[in-house]
Amino acid sequence: MSKIKNIVVLTGAGISAESGIRTFRDTGGLWEDHSIDEVATPEGYAANPELVLSFYNARRAQLSTVEPNPAHEALARLEQRLLEKGGLLTIVTQNVDDLHERGGAKNIIHMHGELLSQWCRACDTKFKSAEAFTLESHCPKCDAKGKVRPDIVWFGEMPYFMDTIEAHILNCDLFVSIGTSGAVYPAAGYVQMARGLNKQTLEINLDPSEGSYFFHETRLGKAGELVPVWVDEILNA
Ligand code: APR
Repeated sequence: MSKIKNIVVLTGAGISAESGIRTFRDTGGLWEDHSIDEVATPEGYAANPELVLSFYNARRAQLSTVEPNPAHEALARLEQRLLEKGGLLTIVTQNVDDLHERGGAKNIIHMHGELLSQWCRACDTKFKSAEAFTLESHCPKCDAKGKVRPDIVWFGEMPYFMDTIEAHILNCDLFVSIGTSGAVYPAAGYVQMARGLNKQTLEINLDPSEGSYFFHETRLGKAGELVPVWVDEILNA
C-alpha cells in the first residue's frame, strides 16, 4: 500500500451513465428535455408542483430498473481495503441515485440529496420512500396532504454536509473527481480547495471537465473501465 490512506472521491452523473441513468449536460442529457428553472428550483416547484413531483417520480421509479456498474463496485472495494489498512475512502456524490450504496459502498455523502428521501414541508421531517408522491399524497408522519417534496437540493438551495465534506478534503491525501462536468458549485470548486491544501488530485471523466486544468492528472474514458484500473493501482502501490 502506498502512502495514500485517506481519499476523497467526488462523483457526478457520469459514474452512473453506464448503468443507464442519463447525465445532465451531455448530448441527450436531462437538461435537453427539461428546463432547470421548471424542475430544479424552489420557484419552479412553487409554480408547478405537479410537474416537479412527476419529474422526480419518474427518476425514482427508474432506480429499480438499473444496476450499479464496475465503477461503483470498484469504489466499494477500495473503501473496504482502505478501512482494513486503517485508511478511509469518503465518497462525496452529487448523484441522487442509490447506486453507490447498492454497489456496496458505505461512507457516502449525498450533497445534493437523494431520490429515495422525501421531505415534508409541513412537519419538516425527512423520510425514506421509494413511492411516487403527488399533491394527493399524505405525509406518513403528520398526515399533511400535498406537502411532501423530493429531498433534492435544487439550484438556489444550500448543498448538504458542506462542513463535513471540507473536513474530509482537509484530511485527505488524494482528491479524485469522477464523472462530473465541473459546471456546478460548490462541488466544482473542491479541486481548487484540494490544490490549495497541497493535496494530490486526479480526474477521471469521459471528456475534460470545466476545471480540468486544476487537476494534476486527467484520465479520459469511461468510468466503468478506468475506475477499476485506478483502484487496482492504488491497492497494488
Ligand atoms: N464515464 C465517465 N464520465 C462520463 C461518462 C462515463 N461513462 N459519461 C459521461 N461522463 C461525463 C461527461 O463527460 C460529463 O463531464 O460525466 C459528466 C456529467 O456531467 P453533468 O451532466 O453536468 O453531471 P454532473 O456534473 O453530475 O452535474 C452536477 O448538476 O444539474 C445538476 O444537480 C445536478 O448533481 C447535478 C449537478
